[in-house]
Amino acid sequence: MSQMKSIMSMMELSSIACFCIFLAFLINLVIKFVLPSSVAERKRLPLPPGSLGWPYIGETFQLYSQNPNVFFASKQKRYGSIFKTHILGCPCVMISSSESAKFVLVTKSNLFKPTFPASKERMLGKQAIFFHQGEYHYRLRKLVLRAFTPDAIWNRVSDIESIALDCLGSMEGRVINTYQEMKTYSFNVALLSIFGKDEVLYREDLKRCYYVLEEGYNSMPINMPGTLFHKSMKARRELAGILSKIISRRRRRRRNSSSSSSSSSSDLLGSFMDLREGLSDEQIADNVIGVIFAARDTSASVLTWCLKFLSEYPSDLQAVTEEQEAIIRKKGKEAKRRLDWTDTRQMPLTSRVIQETLRVASILSFTFREAVEDVEHQGYLIPKGWKVLPLFRNIHHSPENFPEPHKFDPSRFEVAPKPNTFLPFGSGAHSCPGSELAKLEILVLLHHLTTKYRQAVCTTNFRLRQRSKHMLWSMMSSENGIQYGPFALPLNGLPIRLSLRTQHQ
Ligand code: HEM
Repeated sequence: MSQMKSIMSMMELSSIACFCIFLAFLINLVIKFVLPSSVAERKRLPLPPGSLGWPYIGETFQLYSQNPNVFFASKQKRYGSIFKTHILGCPCVMISSSESAKFVLVTKSNLFKPTFPASKERMLGKQAIFFHQGEYHYRLRKLVLRAFTPDAIWNRVSDIESIALDCLGSMEGRVINTYQEMKTYSFNVALLSIFGKDEVLYREDLKRCYYVLEEGYNSMPINMPGTLFHKSMKARRELAGILSKIISRRRRRRRNSSSSSSSSSSDLLGSFMDLREGLSDEQIADNVIGVIFAARDTSASVLTWCLKFLSEYPSDLQAVTEEQEAIIRKKGKEAKRRLDWTDTRQMPLTSRVIQETLRVASILSFTFREAVEDVEHQGYLIPKGWKVLPLFRNIHHSPENFPEPHKFDPSRFEVAPKPNTFLPFGSGAHSCPGSELAKLEILVLLHHLTTKYRQAVCTTNFRLRQRSKHMLWSMMSSENGIQYGPFALPLNGLPIRLSLRTQHQ
């Protein structure tokens, strides 16, 4: 009997053992095929090198207590082109090679989504293009691109020119903050491309609200009466109200007009209001505000840097002035005629100055993405949920991509840069749809600035120093600084004074 029992228990034991082996096999299968492979990957792949700093605070303080570009450059020097850090409460992987930027922004862009703090989404509007991926993003992007292709903007040159002349005229003879004036210019150009010629009707109302909204953009997101954020959110609501009226007015006008192809249909509002697209008023308003946001400070910063570099490199200034004067001469008797698209295509040297300014200043030093799943890159793990920052500035300042990177040398663009090394307008599905408009507005302003004005850069005590036949400015070394907020800018927004050139200058 006892023998029987022991035989039974041995049989039980062996079947338990078999069951255990089977279970282990099953678990293995589940780990391998059913659970996301990333769990296994997580065990095998190391995180990129670098430091995560203090708990929660991470390295935020190190980043913001100095020039952020020094932070990025020193990290790159220490750890190489991919490294980890922890800023603003988020673990991040920073990448500074053109290959990695292509990986994140283009070839594997489906593994990375755009990411912004929730407060920024509330201010600009949740439905704005920047925050989306997939079908909705694709639809919006098509509509935005349609309004900013060369075909859509070629006939806007003389309107942009009027805005440039107004802007320069208002700057004449007084000490101005270049950046602030350029912001007015780029704001007005943005409104022109959004609302067409109607923009003058809405300019003042939109300006009043948008300027308040913008003040709160970098404020603490505390929505209590009295805070900047609260005022901004109030202005945001008012702005949406104004936009809703503009949309209704446009709709009425369309209904009343026999043809829907009025001249204004080529503007961005017309594109968004395309009936086949079926965008709601809220979606249109969020995206109009988003485009103003994307268009304004960026173009204004680049223009401010252009003026600074031209002041520091008199031979480039002279070459640009001569190129622009040649355009006036070529028009001959038509000199009084407005600039047109063809003229703006004949400014290669000025265009190279703009390209070099975009490279050296790299006003958007980086962008943000977030890994939507565990991603393997260059033998490292980028864990799901981590932020990924392609560092445009490091790519633009790499001696391998641009020899003597700190030298301002527009002639380097006589030869096209290596692929994926020049990314002032980003790359891939979220790259800048407004790049053609941005370049156009800069060319038009530089045309009039160099051919009509002399400039002097002001020191803090507003003494002016001028040199060279054409101008220009020289600056006290102590003022030759850069401020960050959030774009890199010449210190104090580059104070200058403009005066009309005399015949002999
Ligand atoms: C020199 C001026 C400008 C620079 C340097 C610039 C740069 C950029 C960059 C780097 C991006 C991509 C950001 C990313 O990948 O996360 C971007 C996106 C964008 N830009 Fe620009 N931009 C400029 C002017 C403009 C203008 C004038 C407009 C509109 C008229 C505009 C509209 C946009 C929009 C709507 C996006 C988002 C695109 C998307 O998410 O699909 N930008 N810009």
